[in-house]
Amino acid sequence: APIYAPDLSHCGDATVPLKKSPNANVSVHCCPPISTNIIDFKPPAFTKIRKRQPAHLVTPDYVKKFQDAIMLMEALDDKDPRSFTQQAMIHCAYCNSAYEQMGFPSQDLQVHNSWLFFPFHRLYLYFFERILGKLVGDPQFALPFWNWDHPDGMTIPQIYVDQTSPLYDAKRNSDHQPPVVVDLDYSTDKNLPPDEQIQANLCTMNKQMVQGTTTKTLFHGKEYRMGYSPDPGAGTIENGVHISLHKWVGDPKQPMKEDMGNFYSAGYDPLFYAHHANVDRMWHLWKSSLPGKAHHDWMEIIAPNYAPICAPTLK
Ligand code: C2O
Repeated sequence: APIYAPDLSHCGDATVPLKKSPNANVSVHCCPPISTNIIDFKPPAFTKIRKRQPAHLVTPDYVKKFQDAIMLMEALDDKDPRSFTQQAMIHCAYCNSAYEQMGFPSQDLQVHNSWLFFPFHRLYLYFFERILGKLVGDPQFALPFWNWDHPDGMTIPQIYVDQTSPLYDAKRNSDHQPPVVVDLDYSTDKNLPPDEQIQANLCTMNKQMVQGTTTKTLFHGKEYRMGYSPDPGAGTIENGVHISLHKWVGDPKQPMKEDMGNFYSAGYDPLFYAHHANVDRMWHLWKSSLPGKAHHDWMEIIAPNYAPICAPTLK
């Protein structure tokens, strides 16, 4: 059976391992406000597809709208579940053991390091994006994505580095500002010449998207079902470029590499959402348009293949 959504009335302090002594933890409070009026999600009537754009190619009008939307979100009361603070805290609550698994009080609920990674973050962004659109009165509003898989997108996008912009976050590594090229396979600074770093990045993309992900499990991460212990194992993208960029952006001078360098604080950096919009795009690319063949998620194999002759061809 699948992992259930947590019991929202049972939320404890989240645990954050300290950078210097990973066996010591600090507690952070990041439980969302509890509502007794929980509305089941129904997909809204389809009108027009929202189109996400690469963050390095957006127009000044778009940037203005995006900044306004973020400012409006920041201006909401901190207790409002749509506020920027509450949205950021979602990441902490679901990633740092604030919840236990429904029905299994001894198991923490964790949305990383398993096949929950892509779906959880897709929904997280979906609602974040809808709130922004609502606040700014544009139901078609879509987040930008940080196009780090393309040579033109391999620096922190310019719209996030203007210090007067609400998209700026001071808690980032000051040595990794543009024009420094990202390292998609980051652990420590390699200081490669830009061209070499770009080539290495393209190679990393190829390994994690094409060569190394011939099966669903390799791409999505391992199965995580009801009653399982957390963290069964991450897929190539989650464990690779995704984590690399969290570490590469986070500020090593902060006690816990805030903001991007720690799960509990990552959602406080507006760049987080552009990073994850590109992670989400990788899921789409892996399924639909890579060299070789199209891939399938699990849905297709869970559905019994009882009528092979009339089954529609799955893309
Ligand atoms: Cu929930 Cu980039 O991690």
